[in-house]
Amino acid sequence: MPERARQLAYLQRMGIEAWVRRVPPTAEAPMEPAPPAGAMSSPAPQSVADDAVAALDWTALRERVLGCTACQLHATRTQAVFGVGNPDADWLIVGEAPGAEEDRRGEPFVGRAGQLLDAILRAAGQDRRSAYIANILKCRPPNNRDPEPEEIGCCQDYLARQIALIRPRLILAVGRIAAQHLLATDQPIGRLRGRVHRWGEAGIPLVVTYHPAYLLRSPGEKRKAWEDLQLAMQSAREPVEAAEQ
Ligand code: URA
Repeated sequence: MPERARQLAYLQRMGIEAWVRRVPPTAEAPMEPAPPAGAMSSPAPQSVADDAVAALDWTALRERVLGCTACQLHATRTQAVFGVGNPDADWLIVGEAPGAEEDRRGEPFVGRAGQLLDAILRAAGQDRRSAYIANILKCRPPNNRDPEPEEIGCCQDYLARQIALIRPRLILAVGRIAAQHLLATDQPIGRLRGRVHRWGEAGIPLVVTYHPAYLLRSPGEKRKAWEDLQLAMQSAREPVEAAEQ
């Protein structure tokens, strides 16, 4: 199937009608300039965990996460959910925290929201083997409540190390919790969408979009999610040097 036809088919599966006018993201949402050399454009993660996490390789990091007891969530989890995908991925998807199904199966985004995320990824020419998917929290908060700041603090070195090992071309933050934490802001998600942020010292492009669970509840917002995805695709195609100054 030609690329365009395949993309339209995936859009339909996302619940987006093919006649939606695609606004070139650049016209409305120019990429923010890369930070000057040495400058930080986004949060320097404040470590409350063990500094040595920053030196772990994939195997040691996974072991550390799976055995982590740094916060109260370890007592109620079935298992920690480390992340899944290609360790050399161009796209890193960051969600909030495992839900019941993820806690049971040990993989992020495997419930209903995960099926929509898979469709979103396919629309971008990605899947869960080519991209990498991780969460802000590695353990499920009871009853899917919002993560506590202390829990996020205990987990953030793990995600920072995953990002450092992957060195993605693009981070797609799905949902308010992921976006606000990665950008160290309390701005609402509606203000964070529609432009390209930068994460960390490497200035990795970061695009914010709605959480697939929200899109399942509010299908009318899928058009905006498609615009976010276009912005992400465009950003991931930009030359890497722009993000590494
Ligand atoms: N929601 C998330 O944010 N992450 C998951 O892994 C599952 C649901």
